[in-house]
Amino acid sequence: MDISAAALTKRYGPLAALDALDLEVQGARVMALIGPSGGGKSTLLRAIGGLELPTSGALAVNGVDPSGKDGGLSWRRRNGFLFQQFNLFPHLTAYRNVTLPLEKVHGHAPEKAKSLADESIERFGLAAHAHKLPAQLSGGQQQRVGLARAIAHRPEILILDEPTSALDPEMTAEVLELIGELATGGQRIILSTHEMGFARAVADQIALIAAGKVAEHGTAAGVLESPREEITQRFLSKVMRFA
Ligand SMILES: Nc1ncnc2c1ncn2[C@@H]1O[C@H](COP(=O)(O)OP(=O)(O)OP(=O)(O)O)[C@@H](O)[C@H]1O
Ligand SMILES: [Mg+2]
Repeated sequence: MDISAAALTKRYGPLAALDALDLEVQGARVMALIGPSGGGKSTLLRAIGGLELPTSGALAVNGVDPSGKDGGLSWRRRNGFLFQQFNLFPHLTAYRNVTLPLEKVHGHAPEKAKSLADESIERFGLAAHAHKLPAQLSGGQQQRVGLARAIAHRPEILILDEPTSALDPEMTAEVLELIGELATGGQRIILSTHEMGFARAVADQIALIAAGKVAEHGTAAGVLESPREEITQRFLSKVMRFA
């Protein structure tokens, strides 16, 4: 996975959520974004996924400008998304939540959608829950359905925005384990997380995002174990205090 951002800026009125952000990532398998709340992690993930148009600056992900002519819907179709809040359709079963986008977004015939969904549901041990509505599933199960949906079309990049922050510790462990398995299987992933232990275990590169900029970027071991920047040191000493 290659990401190149140059002076990438996203404004919401007077606020620069991304403030002339520069980032050069080459050959990352799993990239983790960490940093203080409000720093711009979600905004950057949305820009990378083509869900948000930058105000100015340049962005290329695997050679594609997500907001340019090769971006847009075709770029969004190539990737998979999972966000902190469970975004399942509440009126559809777990199974239909997986098959519907395969048909409507990815244009697969119902039979093909079923076989892709079966594979993905099976892989995440959700067969027993496939017929249930989201409200009948635990938070961890809902996030597993969300992951099953995000990977069913075999995305080029899986984009995860704090996938476990709404979960209790046991369900967090369950979902992190699945993400770890996907990473081991070669899935390219970019995620934001507050789980430093997980970031250390699964990511090969880490960027600390603060005030709309990349404060520090390097290998997971480098950033977490011997951070160069004072802002990283301060952030880590805060979040590791109770770890
Ligand atoms: N749609 C929006 N409209 C207005 N302001 C926004 C919008 N989205 C984000 N912001 C602002 O942009 C800044 C960056 O937000 P962002 O959600 O990217 O931070 P974050 O690093 O993901 O934080 P957290 O760790 O809390 O999820 C924040 O100040 C936020 O309030
Ligand atoms: Mg966020």
